[in-house]
Amino acid sequence: MCARLCTLLSLALLPALAWGLSDNEKAGQQLYRYGQANTDSPVQARLEAADTVVDASLLPCAGCHGRDGRGRAEGGLNPPDITWARLSKPYGERLPGARQHPPYTEASLARAIREGVDPGGNRLSPAMPRYSLSQRQVRDLIAYLQRIEEDFDPGISDQSLVLGTWQPLSGAQADGGQAVSLSLREAIAQINLDGGIHGRRLTLVVVDSAERDEQAVLDELLDQHEVFALVAVQTSSAAQQEQLRQAGVPLVGTLLRNDPGPGSAWTFEPLAGIQDQMKALGLFAEQALSARGAALILVGPEPAHQAQAESLSRWLVQRGWPAPAIQGAEAPLVLGDGLSALFLLGSGLSSSQVSLLASHSPPPYLLLAGEQAQAELFELPMAFSARVFVAYPFLPDDWTPAFRERLARQRAILGNGYLNRRVSASVALAILEEGLRRAGRQLSREALIRALEELYDHPTGMSPRVGFSGGRRVGAGAHIVRLDLENRELHHTGYYIPPEQR
Ligand code: HEC
Repeated sequence: MCARLCTLLSLALLPALAWGLSDNEKAGQQLYRYGQANTDSPVQARLEAADTVVDASLLPCAGCHGRDGRGRAEGGLNPPDITWARLSKPYGERLPGARQHPPYTEASLARAIREGVDPGGNRLSPAMPRYSLSQRQVRDLIAYLQRIEEDFDPGISDQSLVLGTWQPLSGAQADGGQAVSLSLREAIAQINLDGGIHGRRLTLVVVDSAERDEQAVLDELLDQHEVFALVAVQTSSAAQQEQLRQAGVPLVGTLLRNDPGPGSAWTFEPLAGIQDQMKALGLFAEQALSARGAALILVGPEPAHQAQAESLSRWLVQRGWPAPAIQGAEAPLVLGDGLSALFLLGSGLSSSQVSLLASHSPPPYLLLAGEQAQAELFELPMAFSARVFVAYPFLPDDWTPAFRERLARQRAILGNGYLNRRVSASVALAILEEGLRRAGRQLSREALIRALEELYDHPTGMSPRVGFSGGRRVGAGAHIVRLDLENRELHHTGYYIPPEQR
């Protein structure tokens, strides 16, 4: 009796409740997303095919049917859309060869979840586990499936969408943070002027990260501001990435990326970071210079540089290079015989190191990432002529006239400061925008992730084309540029090394 009455009551209250889930629905959400029950009776999932029983937390519904309940095709399985709106529609399955059945009722849905039988009496495929849910748990779960479409991810409302970033807005790094915020705000204002995305206006929350605990910064964005996704953050640690992964929050673009960690499925990097640029230089050295010989990696003082060097070294060895020596930039330089390439990772070269290298015959190729290239490089002795190569994630040649105009307007306020970071931030926002457009009006974080995963060779007008095909999370490669010491100029070698296929 109460069940009916309660349903009626909650129906009557629906408009008032639209922004929050009831306790029962929350319990259902917990079951749906994580396979976890509030009570001490854990839920079990039975896999008929393997004739085994496992804890339901290992096989939550969301894992197959998607956090938004709309199903998805993966690995030959086709977990269907199980939102109540679809299950209760009076048409049954129409696909040829598919199960025919009348619309689901709450009772028949409970039966499908527990016993694997649909309202037409057909057995569901063994790929769909059977769950040992109590009366109450199954009711909670169904209550949640009835609301799942309104259970918008944070930051989404009918007319607006909240995005977030963290930047140093005070202290010694403030100029860089302000420059990035300004270019993001400008781009967002333009998107809103053009009508927003699927009828929603974008709002950007910028949290000051200067001298603050990174955990607190992230908590502020997620809990207090309830942002939907993050964009163009200045740096991010492995711990932050893990927190984002657990919370299921998408991040597009880390500007000063120096963590060679595994990354996360929720993080997309449109442009090549230092690590990717170094690898591009390695490939260039092999292909264009035939320099797959003895190599030395000179590392700067930061711990991240050491970690990057080790990862680069492992990668070179995998590609058949002899194991490169890794040396700290502060220690006296030791050159082995036949040194062919010197990778500079976060370190410059002192004048005595330069003389030592120049006396080596021939001097090794010097390979470094764009953000480390300083004007002093032009002071190198002529012995290094045509021997210095720099990788860049983008070049001015990649910019459309419209983007050049935007940069020219910014120059009036910011000068040329932090140009690389501003461009990287604009690319990150453009990729996020594209993902949001493709994900559609029925937006969810998962839908955004899926849309980004399908992005292929997308022109940004600011950088090389960006795409994330095949599970790859770095969207573009690197241009290789040669230093012309005679004329103090940079020349494109004509080599663009596409992002690594993983
Ligand atoms: C391991 C992947 C997997 C998990 C986990 C999973 N399902 Fe399924 N589910 C499927 C597949 C595959 C089908 C399609 C079966 C078929 O068509 O015979 C399915 C079918 C269904 C159907 C039938 C829909 C229809 O159109 O007839 C319902 C209802 C359903 N699942 C609910 C759930 C619920 C609720 C959970 C969590 C308690 C869950 N599923 C967990 C894979 C899964």
